[in-house]
Amino acid sequence: MKIIPIANPKGGVGKTTVAMQLAAVLARRFNVLVVDVDPQQSTVWWAENAHHRLPFDFAGTQSSNMLGRVSELRVEYDFVLVDTPGSLEDTQILEAVLDAADFVVVPLTPEPLALDPTTRTITRLIEPRHLRHKVLLNRIDGRIPHQLATWRELLDTTLGIPRFDTYLRQYKVHADAAVLRQLVTSAPDTRRTAGSISDATGFGRQMSDQFSNAHLEVW
Ligand SMILES: Nc1ncnc2c1ncn2[C@@H]1O[C@H](COP(=O)(O)OP(=O)(O)OP(=O)(O)O)[C@@H](O)[C@H]1O
Ligand SMILES: [Mg+2]
Repeated sequence: MKIIPIANPKGGVGKTTVAMQLAAVLARRFNVLVVDVDPQQSTVWWAENAHHRLPFDFAGTQSSNMLGRVSELRVEYDFVLVDTPGSLEDTQILEAVLDAADFVVVPLTPEPLALDPTTRTITRLIEPRHLRHKVLLNRIDGRIPHQLATWRELLDTTLGIPRFDTYLRQYKVHADAAVLRQLVTSAPDTRRTAGSISDATGFGRQMSDQFSNAHLEVW
């Protein structure tokens, strides 16, 4: 079982979106549990209003202690994804989750204001725990020249922060998803949705590849 928080105290970088879409993609091959420790409980709202049954299990809780008990659950999960709060005011919840984590996904949108909280979290909370982590660039806009290259270069060279090769582009499907509660795995594969589906699927593959010895599945 791998516990994977989706963490970045910067609000709105896509933690909830990434947790739900990644869970959906991984659930095609693995047993997945999503735990929401965000006091806002965005994924709870999403889950409760989902039109289709979610393809993964879901636990809304404001108690990070719950993670310690996950391994005692009757169901054996391959992946436990944890949606965490977007605030630096109370790092206690995030710290407790990181204490239990195997790997951290750090979503980052290409906005200068998102950089400082991201690097601070990595240097103050993630690196001291010797936790494997990677940034996932999110909301990349292909219409902005050099945006992807600039942000990759910034992470790779200037900051030296590990990142996934895959990234999520900005799509209305994702923006609508929280309202329509649509998962990429249940969306019809049309011209409108194809890009978001392939982004999420590629990311899911790279995520499971992080633990490749145990997961040599063909996608
Ligand atoms: N790749 C994307 N394309 C388009 N919209 C996106 C994408 N990723 C996230 N969004 C939208 O951006 C907004 C913020 O995303 P989300 O709620 O997932 O962020 P968050 O980090 O969980 O925020 P918070 O810190 O408030 O919990 C939402 O409206 C979501 O639909
Ligand atoms: Mg959220």
